Amino acid sequence: MRNYPEDIAGVDDERLVGETALVTGSTSGIGREAALSLGRLGAHVIVHGRDEEAGAEVVEEIDAGVKEGTAEFVAADFADPAEVRALADATRRAAGDDGLDLLLNNAGGYFREARRTDLGVEYTFHVNHLAPYQLTAELLDDLADDARVVTTASEAHRGDQIDLDAVDSVDGFSSWRAYQRSKLANVQFAAELGRRLRERDDRGITSNSFHPGAIPGSGFFRHLPGPLSGAASALGRLPFATTPAEGAATAVYLAVADEVADATGRYFADCRERKPSTEAQDPRAQRRLWEESADLLGMDEPLSAPVADEVEPTD
Ligand SMILES: NC(=O)c1ccc[n+]([C@@H]2O[C@H](COP(=O)([O-])OP(=O)(O)OC[C@H]3O[C@@H](n4cnc5c(N)ncnc54)[C@H](OP(=O)(O)O)[C@@H]3O)[C@@H](O)[C@H]2O)c1
Repeated sequence: MRNYPEDIAGVDDERLVGETALVTGSTSGIGREAALSLGRLGAHVIVHGRDEEAGAEVVEEIDAGVKEGTAEFVAADFADPAEVRALADATRRAAGDDGLDLLLNNAGGYFREARRTDLGVEYTFHVNHLAPYQLTAELLDDLADDARVVTTASEAHRGDQIDLDAVDSVDGFSSWRAYQRSKLANVQFAAELGRRLRERDDRGITSNSFHPGAIPGSGFFRHLPGPLSGAASALGRLPFATTPAEGAATAVYLAVADEVADATGRYFADCRERKPSTEAQDPRAQRRLWEESADLLGMDEPLSAPVADEVEPTD
């Protein structure tokens, strides 16, 4: 029996012919399944990752499918802002005048080593949060009317806070805390983007984040310490384990389903809305993350308030 993401999400009748989707981190795991699913629904899919061979295989599978979907691969290392910019440029070219219909910010992972990127930012925070923030900012003007931005977050966001003054530090590094912080940033980013799009852009573009489930069979667990990684991969082969295709179902649901066409700034799991943590919902924390992320990247704040809104009354 078929158990594709589009079947689980109840959107297998939708047709995306003529639409363009960028799925970051689609050489493996959840992103790969989401890319294949969107290809089956007829979209032109931009497959992204660093692994050229794995990317070529996904493209081949989409192109060889019986449905109209087509694909191309663009490599970019998310630890390098110049490569993220080049991915945005390639996406712009691929989407053409019609614009990009779907941006699925999914690339990321759990990184064990304490290290900083050339920007001087802790690696997990940069790859999992700053890179999709930059990519989204670069592509804002290229999004089609009613486009959807979907961000892969995680239930791991619960129970942490983001100390923005410490994202350049790896002192006392904990890979789990770094991961949690980056996933909290994903939820806050998606909510703030949704709010700013609603208030400052009238094109009907939405932004939501989701938890895909715990998926031992995806590549995510390869970064866990040795015995845990082996145990996870064994767990992934068990019949009751959540599969990458099941993990991709909520992404495809948010990307395609009519019933969430107007949902924005929200958080989902299992194709249903969920309440994220209190910290994730804090509008001041969301706004500060947005502003500081632009500062860290040395870019203008995207969707900033119109100048008139920022003028303080004189008396
Ligand atoms: N698996 C789970 O249980 C789980 C649970 C909650 C949330 N998530 C989230 O789901 C998303 C996808 O994870 P997954 O489980 O599908 O893992 P995965 O199989 O390891 O896939 C990760 C994808 O991200 C790409 N990626 C990783 N680091 C990158 C970098 N520096 N630059 C560019 N691309 C990079 C990888 O591409 P290359 O290998 O080609 O570079 C790959 O395509 C992540 O955001 C993760 O946090 C996963």
